[in-house]
Amino acid sequence: MNLTTTYLGLKLKSPLMPGASPLTENLDSIRQLEDAGAGAIVMSSLFAEQIERSEAAFARHVSRWNENFAEATTIFPQQDDYSVAPAEYLDRIAHIKAATKLPVIASLNGSHPGNWVSHARLIADAGADALELNTYFLATLRSVSGPEIEERVIEIARAVRGAVKIPVTVKLSPFYSSVAHLVGRLEDEGIDGVVLFNRFFQPEIDVDTLEVNPKLDLSTREDLRLRLRWLGLLRDQVKLSLGCSGGVHASTDVVRALLAGADGVQVVSSLLGHGAAQLGGLLTGLKHWMEQNEYSSVDQMRGALSVRNCPDAEAYERGNYLRTLQLWRP
Ligand SMILES: Cc1cc2nc3c(=O)[nH]c(=O)nc-3n(C[C@H](O)[C@H](O)[C@H](O)COP(=O)(O)O)c2cc1C
Repeated sequence: MNLTTTYLGLKLKSPLMPGASPLTENLDSIRQLEDAGAGAIVMSSLFAEQIERSEAAFARHVSRWNENFAEATTIFPQQDDYSVAPAEYLDRIAHIKAATKLPVIASLNGSHPGNWVSHARLIADAGADALELNTYFLATLRSVSGPEIEERVIEIARAVRGAVKIPVTVKLSPFYSSVAHLVGRLEDEGIDGVVLFNRFFQPEIDVDTLEVNPKLDLSTREDLRLRLRWLGLLRDQVKLSLGCSGGVHASTDVVRALLAGADGVQVVSSLLGHGAAQLGGLLTGLKHWMEQNEYSSVDQMRGALSVRNCPDAEAYERGNYLRTLQLWRP
């Protein structure tokens, strides 16, 4: 049985990988995930805010020296030469590469094109095999239009694409008026993949303290369906790699994501809840399903139920909305 997949141009031994999260913050858990059969790992994100704060802190530091000792600035590197990427992140890439055979997908998180984009190059130089860009920006003002938000994603993707040669994928939110159009534009920009989708924390109102707090819950299996819809709809429209992120908790969820059209399947909540060994269980279940259903490879499964291949294509679209409502029973 052939579980290999090509994801972002990388040949992976399996389509399953831990998504960006604290799961990939220490070598022990990364080794466990490798032993359990992960095809790659996605590192937790390096945030633009972290980088920009470091730059600001560095600038403050130098100017303090400047004011006090005019000649002393020569002992500092020029700000342009100074590696302001939080050094630990770059070190971590190198450590993971040295300690495992896993392809490492680093993650950069920013909401506007900025200085931090140049850090994509440092990440590539540190040995990352690919880069996932998380472009989370929530438009909250009536003055900000949909096209402006999409343009921002494209600008970030273009800038990063121009900065590195390694494969680049963009982790999207589902909150775009035309997901397919945006993904098509990313493909036109030379982006190698998209990850569907990011999951955000939502604010919660505490009725006792009358405070509003951000709250991040782990996902449930219901989260997967939104991903399945877009995997299925996009599979036949674009050639770039499709990553699934959100709601994968059981091996049948992995099967679903692949049948809809995913090239890679990321898991976070389920592994945070059950530990790294859960990834092995998901893979065993996938193999079992493939045996039972006479699939010999992941390639054969991929997109077998995409919109073009499924018996009732309208299930992906609005078409049978009315029938679905009529069929509902309590
Ligand atoms: C504790 C936690 C930390 C996360 N950190 C990141 C991160 O640094 N960067 C990122 O792009 N996504 C991050 N995510 C989102 C996950 O990568 C993933 O997209 C989301 O949890 C949906 O997948 P799941 O249903 O398998 O959990 C995080 C999620 C959790 C629960």
